[in-house]
Amino acid sequence: MLILGLESSCDETAAAVVKNGRRILSDIVASQFEIHAPYGGVVPELASRAHVVHIVPILSAALESAGVTLDEIDGVAVTQGPGLVGALLVALQVGKAIAYARDIPLVGVHHLEGHLNAVYLEDDAPPFPHLALVVSGGHTSLLRVNDHSEVIELGATRDDAAGEAFDKVAKLVGLGYPGGVAIDRLAREGNPEAVPLPRAMTAKHTADDFSFSGLKTAVLNHVRKHGVPEGRSLADLCASFQATAVEVLVRKTRKAARRQRLHHVQICGGVAANSLLRSEMRRAGEEDGFDLYVPPPKRCTDNAAMIAAAGYYRFERGERAGWDLNASASLPLPGPKA
Ligand code: KG4
Ligand code: ZN
Repeated sequence: MLILGLESSCDETAAAVVKNGRRILSDIVASQFEIHAPYGGVVPELASRAHVVHIVPILSAALESAGVTLDEIDGVAVTQGPGLVGALLVALQVGKAIAYARDIPLVGVHHLEGHLNAVYLEDDAPPFPHLALVVSGGHTSLLRVNDHSEVIELGATRDDAAGEAFDKVAKLVGLGYPGGVAIDRLAREGNPEAVPLPRAMTAKHTADDFSFSGLKTAVLNHVRKHGVPEGRSLADLCASFQATAVEVLVRKTRKAARRQRLHHVQICGGVAANSLLRSEMRRAGEEDGFDLYVPPPKRCTDNAAMIAAAGYYRFERGERAGWDLNASASLPLPGPKA
């Protein structure tokens, strides 16, 4: 089954062709970093407009790169939510139009379900059930993944998402948008113990929840007191911030794995591209005896191959969306069966 995946929930316009939910024939992503960079964050109206401009060329590029035409596509999978409604609607309407005109089935996919399925495009994919840490610009959640259609949220951030904290700290110290990659790179040259920063949500009743706003404020206070650092001091601040954020993410993930008695853990979402998070989580797995699964960095960040992969399992279950499929800013995860 050849599935066309489409994604436009935030600031990436993406299209991909995936065979049987596993083999990527093409995976094209157009980022809008330059459009949003001057504002230090995503401007929803500009994102929607850029998606409108990019979606058809990206779709054509995905078909061409896969060496197929729309005649060969068996189904369309599109991100339905959560995300920016004006942005989501662009890929959703294009997907709907293709499915209607070609008389092929359509499914809507939850964006996090997409992230969770990115690792199923790899040879080494986690069995069910497993624990997932989803860390992106919009989400930070610990999930128990019972199968492709049953995901239980154990905990989530009470305020900022992990990626949002990376982006806000990067903006604060003048590293531009999005700042996760820049912090990751600079932190390699810094001392992670140079600036002591707080670790939040250490109490038992908040064991699976996260909070990153206190950490962000601590960095802000440091900058207010000492000024925006440069050179070595900037690298030290980046390394200290990153080490603190990663320590919290790893500690909570290993505790959740223990409590849930899960021996397979995946990390996904944009922040899973972070080099320290990848290496620290791997070390935790070796110490605690869980197997770690992480998509390659380019499929941690938003892409449409993961949407096509998630869509494949929905098609397999016999799901079909109606022509009334609509974008939803706060779509719930595919939950436990009644
Ligand atoms: O999954 P994603 O592409 O979009 C959302 O669904 O939000 O995640 C984007 C986030 C941004 O906040 C970006 O700064 C962060 O992922 N990110 C990173 C790295 N690469 C991307 N954060 C830390 N280290 C990285 N290497
Ligand atoms: Zn995402």
